Amino acid sequence: MSALSADDKGAEAVETGAGVTPRHVAIIMDGNGRWAKKKGLPRVAGHRQGAEAVRKTLRAAVEAGVECLTLYAFSSENWRRSEEEVSDLKGLMRYYLERELDELEREGVRLSFIGNPSRFGEELWGKLQAASERTAKNDKLHLVVALSYGSRDEIVGAARKLAQEVAAGKRDPNSIDEASFDLALQSHHLPELDLLIRTSGEVRLSNFLLWQAAYAELLFLDMYWPDFDEAAFHDAIAAYGRRQRRFGGR
Ligand code: IPE
Ligand code: IPE
Ligand code: MG
Repeated sequence: MSALSADDKGAEAVETGAGVTPRHVAIIMDGNGRWAKKKGLPRVAGHRQGAEAVRKTLRAAVEAGVECLTLYAFSSENWRRSEEEVSDLKGLMRYYLERELDELEREGVRLSFIGNPSRFGEELWGKLQAASERTAKNDKLHLVVALSYGSRDEIVGAARKLAQEVAAGKRDPNSIDEASFDLALQSHHLPELDLLIRTSGEVRLSNFLLWQAAYAELLFLDMYWPDFDEAAFHDAIAAYGRRQRRFGGR
């Protein structure tokens, strides 16, 4: 399946942005269930193949020289899924961590998390924290996994934090501006979001990086996440390079 819409493929290279590598790419990895259904397999088979797509994407991102890759792996709304599916996803996370951590380390990948990963329980949360600590000094690529993440929740958390500082007399309300608000978000340590990709054909953000995507380039792909690979990632980077970013200027 083609990774890009006809529009993106046919776009003429423009001066601005042409050939530029995005610093920060985020992906809504959607379509695992439909991929499995199409093949007559259980949903978990789609999630398993989705984990393979993550490995390929990571390799491609390192190769492309992307600085930061944020992957939407589990939303705050995904808790509505069946106990069985949530448990399968937790099992896969555990398995992926155990199998991939050495490789991430070798490749110089720093792993961290946004969202509420402690909701996955002490055992898994402990493993996630240990992986994050172990890779903290790596600087080839920063892999950020959004786990039990919801953008509205993140924004409300930032507002609460600033309100508490005001209430404690540590902050003047007039000092709250875009920069200080951004600093109060969980993503404060990440570069500006340049490119946001969603697979599966759905054209929505599903509560992902709403604040951060204000001026990101959006790319919606007609392919299920388990089919995403190195070539699809490189096509996406090339499509980004053909976009003209204006930020409200001309
Ligand atoms: C994305 O695939 C993975 C998660 C949300 C955890 P889905 O499981 O949403 O697959 P579809 O959208 O039902 O095909
Ligand atoms: C978004 O996909 C969340 C992740 C990919 C982790 P969903 O499948 O949960 O989103 P909706 O329900 O189609 O909006
Ligand atoms: Mg989905």
